[in-house]
Amino acid sequence: MKLNKYLKASVAALAISTGAAQAADVEVLHWWTSGGEAAALNVLKGDLEGQGIGWQDMPVAGGGGEAAMTVLRARVTAGNAPTAVQMLGFDILDWADQDALADLNETAAKEGWDDVVPDALKAFAKVDGKWVSAPVNVHSTNWVWANKAVLDANGIAAPETWEDFVAAVEALSAAGLTPIAHGGQAWQDATIFDAVVMSTGGPDFYKSAFIDLDAEALGSDTMKEAFDRMAFIRANVDDNFSGRDWNLATAMVINGEAGFQMMGDWAKGEFLNAGKVPGEDFLCFRFPGTQEQVTFNADQFALFKQGDAVGAEQAALASAILSPSFQSAFNVVKGSVPARTDVSDEAFDDCGKKGMADLAAAASSGNLFGSMAHGHAAPASVKNAIYDVVTAHFNGEYDSETAVDELVTAVEIAQ
Ligand code: BGC
Repeated sequence: MKLNKYLKASVAALAISTGAAQAADVEVLHWWTSGGEAAALNVLKGDLEGQGIGWQDMPVAGGGGEAAMTVLRARVTAGNAPTAVQMLGFDILDWADQDALADLNETAAKEGWDDVVPDALKAFAKVDGKWVSAPVNVHSTNWVWANKAVLDANGIAAPETWEDFVAAVEALSAAGLTPIAHGGQAWQDATIFDAVVMSTGGPDFYKSAFIDLDAEALGSDTMKEAFDRMAFIRANVDDNFSGRDWNLATAMVINGEAGFQMMGDWAKGEFLNAGKVPGEDFLCFRFPGTQEQVTFNADQFALFKQGDAVGAEQAALASAILSPSFQSAFNVVKGSVPARTDVSDEAFDDCGKKGMADLAAAASSGNLFGSMAHGHAAPASVKNAIYDVVTAHFNGEYDSETAVDELVTAVEIAQ
């Protein structure tokens, strides 16, 4: 009896010291660690706090979420899955396939998710008729962020074509500035590659290469041209790009040290967090030559099974995430756009309004495609294989010809 008491006390102490989630808490594993991301996360924390639900934070730094997914795998293997996990596209399908995710159908039915979440997101949120994750937003990767004063001072307008972009970059370089702010990390190289491939080959080519994984497209002259364009970009970043975090690259544009950053619209969260105003301090425009297209990725919260039924706190989290007011408040801060199609764009700034209009237009004209770099075009094994080749080429290990050959082989092996 005494021993039992002692054990109970030790387990309670351990729970406190490890920060393990209590009954009515949600433990959330995510990679939102930059200033802008943390500001957005606070919107969600605040929302849940208002409902009396505690928040156990489990941040794992690393844009794109690769490190977070590694930690998640270890936690699940140890039989200690977090309640809720930020997750992208194919990773959700993968965990659903392993029967690890809770069934959210009751909440989804009660709140009519089927009617308001677009098919492109349902493809990654519903598996065999079951809702397994709660969509938070829609981001897209084919954006350019520019310092307006730097462009104005050098007589540069937002470039519309690749040729315009080359001219703008060369003008900035001639003026002694860093034309392109970039962080040399595989997922960032791949984020640029999404847009470069779309711009070089167009939407059918992007789909053949990254979604259908067609060897002919992967090994084509068009792909070689895309790698040549990556080499041009590489030649116009600063000497210290290697390993730099994406938000530090954004800061270079914010501070006027660099002209452009090619990055998903989470970059806008950093500009806003620094008090910058779109159209006045910075410009947002689609990567040259991809004005009609959107390469998207949607953050979702996958809720891991904790027992047979969905936990009350999990249902509350899912419901909070999908509420129209949260979808507006969160995405205004995050830089993304709502995952629901029925949210007004009123509270959004000009870049957000453009993001919402572009998404709707791309969806209806057949120009909406999953981002390769952010897990919405192909499973993680293929994504990582593409990362390796793109990064090796970016760092000068392969010329463009070799990169194309390596790409074909790497994708084939990864499938
Ligand atoms: C996520 C964003 C996040 C970005 C950088 C992307 O994969 O979808 O929410 O801000 O990575 O961390």
